[in-house]
Amino acid sequence: MSRIYTISDVHVDYLENRKYIEHLSDQKYESDVLLLAGDVTDNLSLLKTTLQTLKKKFKDVFYVPGNHELWLKKDDREMRFKDSIEKFHAIIKLCHDTGVKTEPEKVTSTQGDVWVVPLFAWYSTPYDDPQDSLYAGDSADVHQDSENMWMDNHLCLWTSLKDKTRSQYFADLNKEPISLVMKNKSPGDVVVSFSHFLSRKELLGHTEAEFEEFNKERSLRKLPEFQIDKSKSKQMQFDFSLFAGCKVLEEAIRMLGSVVHVHGHQHRNRDREIGGVRYVSHCLGYPREQQNGFTWGLMEWDGPKQIWPSTK
Ligand SMILES: [Fe+2]
Ligand SMILES: [Fe+2]
Repeated sequence: MSRIYTISDVHVDYLENRKYIEHLSDQKYESDVLLLAGDVTDNLSLLKTTLQTLKKKFKDVFYVPGNHELWLKKDDREMRFKDSIEKFHAIIKLCHDTGVKTEPEKVTSTQGDVWVVPLFAWYSTPYDDPQDSLYAGDSADVHQDSENMWMDNHLCLWTSLKDKTRSQYFADLNKEPISLVMKNKSPGDVVVSFSHFLSRKELLGHTEAEFEEFNKERSLRKLPEFQIDKSKSKQMQFDFSLFAGCKVLEEAIRMLGSVVHVHGHQHRNRDREIGGVRYVSHCLGYPREQQNGFTWGLMEWDGPKQIWPSTK
């Protein structure tokens, strides 16, 4: 019988993060399940060794790729991936070969049967699809600086997409697995879903309780309370909401009747309930973000966070 843990955005290209993953206990999680919610690395051989490392520590690992995995760098171009979609499918095959799960499965937990449902996704920008986008600003705004700063725009290719948006392409991949869960789930079964990207605009901002958790983490790291720097002009700031997620994910979560939904991507941790669903984000993030407490909860959990059974 398993407990369910989560972590995301482990970005093992950073040596510190690689060591963090390698040093996770070999015994603590041996009956447990890990939901790894994307942004491991863009490097396929490093992705493989990281998945193998986690697979040894946990009974089962469920995983969805993040945006970083779909970057095409020199090695990928040499492997002749036509585009990011082709790399995505190579990653899914790699997971299959490594025994890492990317499809829904029923898990026997210490508190009943749980359907774990990985949800693939990509964000919609307001230019892709304003109805699906989580963009928080005015649709008439121009975002050339943010677009230029966003590395996906330089390192991803989408030549095989044709007339679909990226969000729609990945949402379509979820349709069959979702209907399989709906067909097979019994009335008492719990659904826990996870994605790399965000599903709701509210999750872009923190709640008071989350801000307190952030300052608690800072105090455990012997840092002063965080002061928001109001001197920074709004125009100078990068607008993450352009690339945050998509609403079609939320439709999937509601259709599934998820009790918990985990996401990553933002590197600002979350844990709150909205409309009967508990939304959790437990990113490892970049070393500087950890040191500043943005990915709070790491001091408390010393690794992945337990989401089922709930400890709240
Ligand atoms: Fe990330
Ligand atoms: Fe990401």
